[in-house]
Amino acid sequence: MPSKKIIITIDGWSSCGKSTLAKQLARQLNYVYIDSGAMYRAITLYFLRNHIDWTDDSQVKEALKNIQLEFRPNEHSGQTEIYLNDENVEYVIRDLVIAEKVSDVAAIREVRRFAVKQQQEMGRKKGIVMDGRDIGTVVFPKAELKIFMTADNAVRVERRFKELFDKNPNITIEEVKSNLEMRDYIDSHREVSPLRQAEDALVLDNSNITMEEQLKIAAKWVKELI
Ligand code: DC
Repeated sequence: MPSKKIIITIDGWSSCGKSTLAKQLARQLNYVYIDSGAMYRAITLYFLRNHIDWTDDSQVKEALKNIQLEFRPNEHSGQTEIYLNDENVEYVIRDLVIAEKVSDVAAIREVRRFAVKQQQEMGRKKGIVMDGRDIGTVVFPKAELKIFMTADNAVRVERRFKELFDKNPNITIEEVKSNLEMRDYIDSHREVSPLRQAEDALVLDNSNITMEEQLKIAAKWVKELI
């Protein structure tokens, strides 16, 4: 008998390994992986490219009408990648230019309404792992498994620095550190759907464990449910 399909949410601070764990779990369970942060990043890219003044509600509303987001599998890696109006933007959205603005854009009520509606639709058939900031609290408050990830600040900065340095050797550790601190602050203090740990979430601190160990812990939680 096939095991029952569930919804797994992974929320937490920036750069604490949410997407790594989400991809590991999705691969192991043959579930769909959705990176909700990629949606906010793609919207930010659209706003920047089209010079949208996102402090102006009417400009935001009009712009959102012209944004179509889609996740499609990469045929080589099998991983889902985000498309903005039919263009693959999976890699451009990881740039620091986007990281510097995305928390402001993600704090806009209309933007969240737009993204959350699509995220909920994606989870209708279950069998999904979604990571973000408000997935267990707002998007899927009834998810069967909610994981809240955390890691020491220094560990997070080092991880993100390594990731960005590969693409841009001019980047400094101070730039990365201040960007992470700024995003964590805005993400957890905004009025709409701030980052917070759901009451029924299980906490996973991966400061001192390997990727294999974190998968083992989460896989055990999943096994207890399905
Ligand atoms: O996970 P990430 O770093 O790619 O997310 C980019 C930004 O998007 C992050 O600073 C906060 C925002 N975000 C959000 O507000 N809600 C989500 N569900 C996911 C991301």
